[in-house]
Amino acid sequence: MNVDGEPADTPWRQRLRRPGWVLIPQRLFLGVTFTYACLQKLSDPHYFAAASDPQSVAAQMASYRHTSPIGALIGIAANHSDAAGLLIALAEIAVGLATLVGLWSRLAAGGGAILSLTFLLTASWNTTPYYFGSDIVFLVMWLPLIGYGSDGVLSLGGLLARRRAPDEPAMDRRSLLRYGASAAVLAFVGLNAAWVATRFRRQLPQTTAAGGNAGAAGKALVATSKVPVGTGIVIDGASPIAVVQPKAGDFVAFSAVCTHAGCTVAWAGSGFSCPCHGSTYDAAGKVTHGPAARPLSAVPVRVEGDNVVRG
Ligand code: FES
Repeated sequence: MNVDGEPADTPWRQRLRRPGWVLIPQRLFLGVTFTYACLQKLSDPHYFAAASDPQSVAAQMASYRHTSPIGALIGIAANHSDAAGLLIALAEIAVGLATLVGLWSRLAAGGGAILSLTFLLTASWNTTPYYFGSDIVFLVMWLPLIGYGSDGVLSLGGLLARRRAPDEPAMDRRSLLRYGASAAVLAFVGLNAAWVATRFRRQLPQTTAAGGNAGAAGKALVATSKVPVGTGIVIDGASPIAVVQPKAGDFVAFSAVCTHAGCTVAWAGSGFSCPCHGSTYDAAGKVTHGPAARPLSAVPVRVEGDNVVRG
C-alpha cells in the first residue's frame, strides 16, 4: 500500500487522477493559511486590545455590526469580543492543522467554509469589485474538500482507516482510541503554537484615542497636544476620523474609514494602514499600497484654542 492506499503496482498516471492528489495543493494552501491566520492573530499585540484600538477584534466587530448583513449576530458576539476573537483563532488553527494532516478532513473543510463565509459577510462584504476580497475565494476553495475530504491521500485519517482490519467496524474502541490520540496530539500542537504566538505579543503604544462622536461641525476632535508634529491619531467613534499634524501648527484630517471595504485604518509610523486587507495610505491620505484605490476622504478641520475642531 502507498500513501494514498493504492496497491504499490498502481501506475502513477492512474493514481494522480484521484481527487485526493488533485486537491493536495488546495489542502496545503488552505491548511497553511488558516494555521498562519491563527498565529498571526494571537501574536498581534492589537488583537485583544481595547475597542479604541482600530486594529483590535473589538473595534472590527463594532464596525462590522453596522456594515455586515449579519450585523445583529456580530453585535451579540461583539459583547464578548475577546472570547469570540479567541474562538475564531482556535477554530482557524483546528481547521488548518486538521486539513494539513488529513484528519476529519470533510468536517474541517465544513468548518473552514463556515469561517470563510463569516469573513466574507463581514470583512469582505463591502469589497468592490467583489473579487478583491480573498474570503470569497477561500469559501469556493473549501467546497471540493467538503465533498472529497483528503480522499485518503497523505492523510492521517486514511492511514488509521487502512490500518483497521477489514472486518473491524469503523468506530470500535480501538479506532476511537486512535482517533482520540491523534486529535489530542493535534490539539497539543495547536495549543502550543498558539501559546508560543501569544508569548511574542508585544505591548505597543496605543496610537488611537477614544473620541465619541467626531461628526458634528465645530466639535472638538482632539487636543493639539495629542498629535505631535509628524504623527497622526485616529479618533474612534461612529465616524472615525484621522487627524495628522504634518508641519508644526498645520493640522489636516481624513475619514479613517478605509476606501477598500470600510475597515477603520490605524496610524502606522508615517501613514495609515488598514488591518483588514493591508491597504496603506500616506500622511496626506493618498493610497500607497492597495487593494484600496481611492484616497481617504478629507475632513475640514481648524485649530481653536488648544483643540482641533471640525469645520
Ligand atoms: Fe480592505 Fe482596508 S478594508 S484594505
